[in-house]
Amino acid sequence: MKFKIQNLRDYANEYHNSVVSPEDFWSEIADYFHWKKKWDKVLEWDFDTPSISWFKNAELNLTENIFEKLLPTHEHKTAIIWEPNDTSADAISITYGELFKATCKFANALQTQGVRKGDRVIIYMPMVPEATVAMLACARIGAVHSVVFAGFSATALADRVNDCKAKMVLTSDGNYRGNKKIPVKAVVDEALQKTHTVEKVIVLKRTGEQVEMVPDRDLWWHDTIANEPDSHKAEVMKSEDLLFILYTSGSTGKPKGVVHTTAGYMIYTYYSFINVFQYQTDDVYWCTADIGWITGHSYIVYGPLLAGATTLMFEGVPTYPHPGRFWEIVEKHRVNQFYTAPTAIRALQVHGTAPVEKFDLSSLKVIGSVGEPINEEAWHWYHENIGKGNCPLVDTWWQTETGGIMISPLAGITPNKPAHASLPLPGVQPIIVDAEGNELIGNNVEGNLCIKYPWPSMIRTTYGDHQRCKDTYFSTYKGMYFTGDGVKRDHDGYLRILGRVDDVINVSGHRMGTAEVENAIDEHPDVIESAVVGYPHEIKGQGIYAFAICDKSEKTPEDLEEEIKQLVRKIIGPIAKPEHVQIVSGLPKTRSGKIMRRILRKVASRDLSSLGDISTLLNPEVVDEIIKGAGLD
Ligand code: PRX
Repeated sequence: MKFKIQNLRDYANEYHNSVVSPEDFWSEIADYFHWKKKWDKVLEWDFDTPSISWFKNAELNLTENIFEKLLPTHEHKTAIIWEPNDTSADAISITYGELFKATCKFANALQTQGVRKGDRVIIYMPMVPEATVAMLACARIGAVHSVVFAGFSATALADRVNDCKAKMVLTSDGNYRGNKKIPVKAVVDEALQKTHTVEKVIVLKRTGEQVEMVPDRDLWWHDTIANEPDSHKAEVMKSEDLLFILYTSGSTGKPKGVVHTTAGYMIYTYYSFINVFQYQTDDVYWCTADIGWITGHSYIVYGPLLAGATTLMFEGVPTYPHPGRFWEIVEKHRVNQFYTAPTAIRALQVHGTAPVEKFDLSSLKVIGSVGEPINEEAWHWYHENIGKGNCPLVDTWWQTETGGIMISPLAGITPNKPAHASLPLPGVQPIIVDAEGNELIGNNVEGNLCIKYPWPSMIRTTYGDHQRCKDTYFSTYKGMYFTGDGVKRDHDGYLRILGRVDDVINVSGHRMGTAEVENAIDEHPDVIESAVVGYPHEIKGQGIYAFAICDKSEKTPEDLEEEIKQLVRKIIGPIAKPEHVQIVSGLPKTRSGKIMRRILRKVASRDLSSLGDISTLLNPEVVDEIIKGAGLD
């Protein structure tokens, strides 16, 4: 595989080249791909506007770099292995040749139904191969996909449809999730009552659920492709044309649509995939994420398929029908690279090693972690029990906004250090700064993580609101991209990510903005004000703890707590449901009226050491009440 780093010296050379002459470095990698027209300029950038353009004015279609480029050698190679939720159903293998035909058919269907280059298409689907086909078909015709995790509520879905003014929604009749059936089509129907841009809904038959098909709007997937040809002339795209929008939470209320563009994203996901996982030609690679998140986009779909890999897609959940399900799948498909989240590891760790020992994991060569800091205990359990002590563990740090893995060991090349994401990939220039933005040089330093130079798959804008992109990422520290994460560089120069330094909570590897949850809570008619913080949670990494003032309510605190939990679940989705809701009569505030979250975080963490000076508060008396209410007195 081209551009695969072989050893540590190679890495050092590549890294050096990528910093000294980034444009030469990336253009050499870009040359590997198929272009319809080459670029005028490799990179134009300015982090103040911000404005970033990679491979300016070049023309290509990303899917031609999966299909037309690879089919001569990969036609009969398995592209996707699909493992269904239900263990009694058969797994399915789809070759590159078959995937191409399915993509072409659906690309034609989308066009027949009126989708044109630049239109936005929402994908709200289960983990089935058709979801991948849907993404690729959009890329083929130049439509911009926006995948929405199918666990999100109707309100969350409607907000995303409205924000990107989607023309079409792709969904299924229902989803399987463990022993549950989820009526997703009904969620779409509810969402679309609050929107007016969607012209068509295409529905994949999955569970056989009775669904209502709205005349002139809803179509069955199988009907739309029935008469479509299985070849398709790819749309010509410019490098900086939008490939997709993916919504993610930030520290302000509304989720923002992170925009990724075509060429840079393609090059970076390919390059990072082959190097981090050290993928070899016949390997079977499995990433357990959902395509609703960036990990699914970059490392189930685009990176692996651009590399001609065999990528496994799993429809179900780790504990159904038993807590050894992951390991059963590894044995069954002889998985070589396995990539999951610390929260899944911790959840399975609870069941002990018996479910692991039942299965043969000897095919594994590389194991990976993503989404949140991995604690040392989970790191060791994973390394010893799953990797059997001899698989390199790649702890990959990155974000929706970065598009691809930024800081990570390269499997088998970078020496492993537990809980350290370790070193940046070639082309990535991290910098640690203090609160004032001064660079912290040398080892043994701790501060805020920024990136000081563009990389090809970086965020270009937040959809429909460029100012927000500037304010969120490029204004905290001048001339740098601010990640929102804290980081430590240890005595060896290895980086360890410490977690978010802003008002973002990481629950089971999913990002939640505290303001977003507060907005949902405030919808309760009895809530006057609320504050949400994260606290350490054994399995989820962080849990959500909400404080709410409901002064005039006639309901009992128990009823209010339950109603608030259910309300958040309804407005955002089950992943945002607070673990704890505490009804309070006031929130600790500074004299300027800002909530002192530091104090609330301490209470939620059940750690009252170093509460700090509370005498400057407007209302110090509420602190005692809150402590008492939490049962900490
Ligand atoms: O705080 C970091 C954490 O997840 C955030 C990004 O979340 P999201 O955009 O949803 O993307 C998750 C998957 C790429 C980061 O700001 N994070 C992600 N990976 C790691 C991590 N924290 C520590 N170690 C990691 N390996």
